Amino acid sequence: MTILRNLTFDDVLLVPAYNHIESRQDVSTQVQLGPYAFEVPIISANMDTITNWLMAREMASLGGLGILHRFNSIDDNRIQFLQCVGFMAGVSIGVQSADLKRFDMLYNEGARLVCIDVAHGHSKLVGKMIKQIRDYTGIFIIAGNISTYAGADYLVSMGAHAVKVGQGAGSVCTTRIKTGFGVPQLTAIMDCAKIDVPIIADGGMRTPGDVVKALAAGATMVMLGSMLAGATETPGKESSGFKKYRGSASRELQEDCYGVMPDWKTAEGISTVVPHKGPVSVIINDIVGGLRSGLTYAGAKNITELHRKAQFIEVTRATTIEGTAHIE
Ligand code: XMP
Repeated sequence: MTILRNLTFDDVLLVPAYNHIESRQDVSTQVQLGPYAFEVPIISANMDTITNWLMAREMASLGGLGILHRFNSIDDNRIQFLQCVGFMAGVSIGVQSADLKRFDMLYNEGARLVCIDVAHGHSKLVGKMIKQIRDYTGIFIIAGNISTYAGADYLVSMGAHAVKVGQGAGSVCTTRIKTGFGVPQLTAIMDCAKIDVPIIADGGMRTPGDVVKALAAGATMVMLGSMLAGATETPGKESSGFKKYRGSASRELQEDCYGVMPDWKTAEGISTVVPHKGPVSVIINDIVGGLRSGLTYAGAKNITELHRKAQFIEVTRATTIEGTAHIE
């Protein structure tokens, strides 16, 4: 057996390149996801502590996208989606037969951007779900999650229009600990980016620099959970300055959503609290500021050019420490 060398965000840096752009205002952060253009390449995660209609509205007004979570009843999901009239929001479905009902309801209410989203997307059931919905007029399917080129290729061959990349990299994920499976996120993005559809890098980004690296590695957009967790617009109440953030495969969510977690299942996520961070606009502006600056370091006037020009180098742990604020 050959063991391949794979890397993640902290293992690399981007090499500064000649910059011909005179101002950070002169770069474009616009991206195209199929028929949809976004001013900002950021999607708020379809998690129950991140995106409901309020977050989706704010993300849309900031130029990004919110994808509603599916950890509620079909009726509640409908109510959430109906609040999104007048702006763009994505919706989510799983792969069970009830998810087809959820899809039919959402489609009939006008949803067109649908995320089929399970922990292990390179699977027969995801392929089957894509096949069942791919012929609906105007549908745009994001499928995932996968972390290999083979996974991306399978989903696209079944009819997915975009794929979501990331397994076990998320801040509240314990998949790698519980199962031993996963691919370091930077390598996963780079491998999947060889596919001929847009890819969304999902999970594991902790800083604006990580977002720039994910985009430079080939992602068209990024999906963020923890970086947005604690924002005012996320679902749930603030308590003593904190807000809840939990994994979709956490025991707590599974029990809240489905009653009990069966004995044959183990949680692959955790539930935690994070400090209340204020309006999501402040967080997004900080990330987009980093991205604009990053584009000028690459000498790239847009994200397509960043994909072409970005040059990564592998770094040591000492370099990572050197790059963190430090005073002797
Ligand atoms: P970040 O790092 O941005 O990651 O907080 C958000 C992404 O994490 C994934 N996710 C999970 N993965 N168990 C997992 O293995 C979970 O319980 C879980 N919940 C969320 C998901 O892809 C999300 O967008």
